[in-house]
Amino acid sequence: MTTQSNHSLTTFPVPRRHHDGPDTAGTTARLVALHDQLARTDLRPGIVVDAAFGELVELCCHPPVGCTEQVLERVAGHADALRSLAATGEGRMEAYWSDRITAAPDPVAELRRFPYLGNYHDLVRLELAALTAAGVPAPRRVAVLGSGPLPLTGLVLAERHGAEVLHVDRDGTAAAAGDAVAEAVGIPARSLVADLAEPLPRTVVAELGRADVVVVGALVGDDARAKGVITARLAAAAPHAVQLVRSAAGLRTLLYPAVAAADLPALEVLLEVHPRTDVVNSVLVARPRS
Ligand SMILES: C[S@@+](CC[C@H](N)C(=O)[O-])C[C@H]1O[C@@H](n2cnc3c(N)ncnc32)[C@H](O)[C@@H]1O
Repeated sequence: MTTQSNHSLTTFPVPRRHHDGPDTAGTTARLVALHDQLARTDLRPGIVVDAAFGELVELCCHPPVGCTEQVLERVAGHADALRSLAATGEGRMEAYWSDRITAAPDPVAELRRFPYLGNYHDLVRLELAALTAAGVPAPRRVAVLGSGPLPLTGLVLAERHGAEVLHVDRDGTAAAAGDAVAEAVGIPARSLVADLAEPLPRTVVAELGRADVVVVGALVGDDARAKGVITARLAAAAPHAVQLVRSAAGLRTLLYPAVAAADLPALEVLLEVHPRTDVVNSVLVARPRS
């Protein structure tokens, strides 16, 4: 009784103290250490950089149960920098493997050595299954935006699923490297250079208008607001195309920007999938509002 009446007289709420459990403290410490370690490198593939990214991805995809929200709070000050390191590292790794594949005497065999090839097969299978679940027919013409120097999403869609594929990237060197890989492994795919964050040239609008599915790569648009603008522009250019908007959930948001249905006012989101497997990206299946 005394305690209750004392409590009711307290003028200001006393902030609750949260003591981090060992999982929160340990995961936070590792993430900060990996950030610091990667920030000291040039992010080019090699024993140290590969091991650090390997541990970072594993930790973000499979953290100890129950500490995600607290860890995200603790590492909030490092989140932008971690995403930026991950994006640069991914680009450098793809450029390295693109060169390796095109220079190899047997490019198909070399592509099979790429350590994350299986992830792309899994991701594409998940995205096609999500389209089916949303009642969307299997795509025949796909535009993959932010395809990069090793455009495996498009190559898997073309080779395994018979889609006609157009790659789009703002970086001409990355687009040329992607073309070189496609040619070396004998998979048909075309590419265009365009920045989706800018108003789209007429040629790009015409090409997008032919697509029945547009894949918005996880690194296209730095944040949810930018993705909202880009997807609205895409909806205007391709009003009949379904968009597969890649996103991230949980600690995976330290690797890629997250986007939610509420961030995409031009789209009606039909389905949202958040894998808990080694597939890193979430995906939103959405169609332009009429
Ligand atoms: C590292 S790659 C990853 C793609 C991955 N290989 C895939 O198959 O999904 C990301 C690419 O996105 C491109 N990119 C990022 N923002 C973009 C934008 N606003 N417009 C076009 N391309 C963009 C970058 O130039 C980079 O080459």
